[in-house]
Amino acid sequence: MEDNHRKKQQQKGPESGVTRRHFLTGAGIGAAGLVAGAPVATGAAPTESAAIIEVGEMVPLTLRINGHPRLLLVEPRWSLAYVLREKLVMTGTKLGCDRGECGACTVLVDGVPRYSCMTLALEAEETEITTLEGLLEGEDLGDVQQAFKEHDAFQCGYCTPGQVMSVEGLLRSNPDPSLDEIRLGVSGNLCRCGAYPNIFKATRRAAELKRGKGDRS
Ligand code: FES
Ligand code: FES
Repeated sequence: MEDNHRKKQQQKGPESGVTRRHFLTGAGIGAAGLVAGAPVATGAAPTESAAIIEVGEMVPLTLRINGHPRLLLVEPRWSLAYVLREKLVMTGTKLGCDRGECGACTVLVDGVPRYSCMTLALEAEETEITTLEGLLEGEDLGDVQQAFKEHDAFQCGYCTPGQVMSVEGLLRSNPDPSLDEIRLGVSGNLCRCGAYPNIFKATRRAAELKRGKGDRS
């Protein structure tokens, strides 16, 4: 029951409450309003202040990623995962199922883990997006990345970026999680290799590192 709740949370868009349905029926019209002279297409009777964007038409967008603004032109249908990987070449974010089932694409949106394949890029405007690349501390691994390395918390590694982002999000909201809380925290991230025992240990270790206990090995 709680697992289902968490998965639904990850699939939801940013806290703005904007959903894909909402965007397609409402926000898209607002975004189109940014484009001067955008052609009016089909749908509800257009008014002087409303315009509907054409299929394939680009709209301007600023995303704030790892503390830096990125100016983009995007199609409204593009997911955040697609924009990160294909347009910004930030390949730390992985794409597995591309339909909200595996968690490989997890990023933080305003500090909360989200499936970027289920989040439209336009929905993420005016949020703070954190990707795997943003966890690095200069040339060094971030605490969660370091803990995963110390505990061999992966086999093939494909799920690992998403697992790391979910653990990062968990520890930001709960600095000292119990085993059950850790299990719940990564329950939206599937690991086909079954590396969960070491992922749980790595999460405990990352919590220690974040609290400033223990030297890195
Ligand atoms: S790629 Fe997004 S949940 Fe699988
Ligand atoms: S390490 Fe292979 S899927 Fe998780």
